[in-house]
Amino acid sequence: MISFKVNGRAVNVREGTNLLKYLREEERLTSVKNGCDSGVCGSCTVLIDGKAARSCTLKVDKLQGKEVLTVEGLDESEKEVYSNAFAEAGAVQCGFCIPGMVLASKALLDINPDPAEEEIKKAIRNNICRCTGYVKIVKAIRLAAEALRESKHIRLNTCSSNIGQNWRRVDAVQKVLGEAVYCDDVFMEDMLYVSVLRAMKPRARVLSIDTTAAEALEGVEAVLTAADIPGENYQGYIFKDWPTFVPVGEMTRYAGDAVAAVAAETKELAEAAIKLINVTYEEMEPVTDAKYAMKSDAPKIHEKGNILSRTHVKRGNPEKAMAESRYVVKNTYRMPPIDHAFIEPESAAAFYDGDVLTVYAATQSITHDHHELCRVLGLPHDKVRVILHNVGGGFGGKEDLSVQHYAALAAFYTKKPCKYTFTREESLLCHPKRHGMELEVATGCDERGMLTFMTARIIADTGAYASLGTAVLERACTHACGPYSIPNVELEGFCVYTNNAPAGAFRGFGVPQSNFAGEANMDQLADLAGIDRWEFRYRNAVEPGMVLANGQICGDDTAVKETLLAVRDEYYRSKYAGIACAFKNTGIGVGLPDVGRCRIRIKDGKVVVYSAASCIGQGLATVMVQIVSETLGIDGSNIIFSQPDSLLCPDSGATTASRQTLFTGEACRRAALKLKAALAEKTPEELEGLDFEGEYSGVTDPINSSRENPVSHVAYSYATHIAILDAEGRVAKIVAAHDIGRAINPLNIEGQIEGGVVMGLGSALRERLVYEGGILKSRFGTLGLLRADEIPEIDVKIIEKNQSELAYGAKGIGEISLIPVAAAVASAYQRFDGIRRFELPLEGTPYNRKKVEE
Ligand code: FES
Ligand code: FES
Repeated sequence: MISFKVNGRAVNVREGTNLLKYLREEERLTSVKNGCDSGVCGSCTVLIDGKAARSCTLKVDKLQGKEVLTVEGLDESEKEVYSNAFAEAGAVQCGFCIPGMVLASKALLDINPDPAEEEIKKAIRNNICRCTGYVKIVKAIRLAAEALRESKHIRLNTCSSNIGQNWRRVDAVQKVLGEAVYCDDVFMEDMLYVSVLRAMKPRARVLSIDTTAAEALEGVEAVLTAADIPGENYQGYIFKDWPTFVPVGEMTRYAGDAVAAVAAETKELAEAAIKLINVTYEEMEPVTDAKYAMKSDAPKIHEKGNILSRTHVKRGNPEKAMAESRYVVKNTYRMPPIDHAFIEPESAAAFYDGDVLTVYAATQSITHDHHELCRVLGLPHDKVRVILHNVGGGFGGKEDLSVQHYAALAAFYTKKPCKYTFTREESLLCHPKRHGMELEVATGCDERGMLTFMTARIIADTGAYASLGTAVLERACTHACGPYSIPNVELEGFCVYTNNAPAGAFRGFGVPQSNFAGEANMDQLADLAGIDRWEFRYRNAVEPGMVLANGQICGDDTAVKETLLAVRDEYYRSKYAGIACAFKNTGIGVGLPDVGRCRIRIKDGKVVVYSAASCIGQGLATVMVQIVSETLGIDGSNIIFSQPDSLLCPDSGATTASRQTLFTGEACRRAALKLKAALAEKTPEELEGLDFEGEYSGVTDPINSSRENPVSHVAYSYATHIAILDAEGRVAKIVAAHDIGRAINPLNIEGQIEGGVVMGLGSALRERLVYEGGILKSRFGTLGLLRADEIPEIDVKIIEKNQSELAYGAKGIGEISLIPVAAAVASAYQRFDGIRRFELPLEGTPYNRKKVEE
């Protein structure tokens, strides 16, 4: 046995035990997170004799006589300092990385009470945060340092009002102290662990599955295959084409396809049992190239053929405009698939509560999960309940079912609680990615630099299953023209099945790809026309009353020119500055149902807000409380945003399309107005227990509507970014100017923008997924994620112009913050070395001189 101390308490642990496993599963110190299990992400950071160490790669054998500290073991004054510092700085989003960040900070501050910014960044360089862009984490550490050094309390921001105030997030302190519960933190009596057998063959027929040996293993309680699905085997967001398990006789379509699952008493047993399942396959050459997949003689991946969807938008006469244009550029751009790399791997726990199968999920929509689980399980809606737990980042990658149905099936059969948490490898292997795309884009202008036409042909590799691919392709097409007035356009896109991993929603939803191509063409046209790149954009940018390329008339809130003006001086001052503009829809739009809902009730004297809208780290609960507080004119401490729960909360749609602040926010405002009217007549006590419902439905027109000026989306956000390089060609600064309508919580908005900018920088400079023959070669450590000491200065400029009463004028920010980054950086490199780059990630930069994959 090895003897050491954990948070001051002596423990004796068997040799060979992994420290992270011991801390989480034996000690239940769940502030210590498992983000990658491979020493890359830092979410498992602990202090060992005061030094930061990654517990996932450590065996206890090295700990004899040592002291291990987790966030739970901080003394009360340190807990207060770190929780106040991180909360006040706005450094907490999904929160999954934060306890590890706190301990990495403490390791630094205990020996260096007044660190320079570079020292702070170095101290946390082994801790990856995918949400915040690190800016506010660094600020939080400086705040903590000052408080500890000078033994003073951190002054808490007091807000005099609600809208436009930097309220601290309602979930921040819990997340800093590791008290916030994520699905993998759930432990229940008699809980079983689920493991799933993946085919690892991108295109093969399943000939037989023999589960005998796995079933015979002691401690295994269920072995499940397609034959055990009580409802529908196939599920999916838009098309039901994704099998829960590939049945005998059918084809696999990508390496991550599930063939069987095991529920067993321990994780190790479940994994051992999986290896005992004998599957025979007839292997075939996978189809991994989208252009080849489009050919008529390519093998069919799905019965209906390989073209999942075609999007075609045409306005005006682009052929004629091209012939008459003074300047024309035409280029082909390519972007690889990219992983979301949220730090929390997917996890779900399922159990029976009476006769209701209850699922704890970390999802972007409990309503979608609820519908799909009922289909797979063959159960009526009142026999399944989905409750949201904290979501450690999503960015679009937690829209589809991933683990939920396997945990639920295991609980259905065993009648015991069952948990299924992806390993990081499974997370990379299985969930849908950002689409790899190829775009041919032609753009023209007249001699004054006024845009005349744009055409684009887009091929999107949507991988094995539809997921949200069709909608992603639509957004790529409808946003290809950018926030400019272009009278003649033709945009054609194809979403193509291959045997690669599925591609689906990812922050930006297809627009990062088409924006990169469109903005690169703008630069080249500006250069050809002899007009500087800022001026070219300013001349062509839309204003209120003008018409977007999709035909929609710009509302009074349109402020792309204001974003351009906000960056102008710095752009002209900087030698190597690149520029890009963007726009992005708020809400699903294009004629589809798009509804935000909430119900407000006074319960035990508090105002409780019920809505099924998921917070995936963006701060939704805080913003909803601010809106209700403003509307009712009461203090926010009297308002609670209830945990989303399919039994209690009305459907408010998915957290997608940058929609929740506007849609659920407006629903909350409407419900609060009803409560306010009632409070004018009755006391809160008399209203206790009564429901006040709010609903906001965005009414829009479908793509290719016959209307001259269709309303495709209820609102758009606009942005201009400039990227400034230093003399060595490193990105020194990003200036990000955003038209966000109205900032309900400016600190939150800044955090969203900083996080989006850094994610966009990652895709510009380094990130990609590498596949060979449909098999993923990338690992978490080779994705190319940026670390704290690689982040440039980020200057956020917020433009507020929207006078709409809907959600007090808020528009979406979640996605657009990422969209123009890559194009602005490419533009800057072209000015730096004269090379126009047509592919992402950009090659030949200090970030990517040698290949990331080795
Ligand atoms: S879980 Fe240990 S470094 Fe990621
Ligand atoms: S807040 Fe850091 S990973 Fe989400």
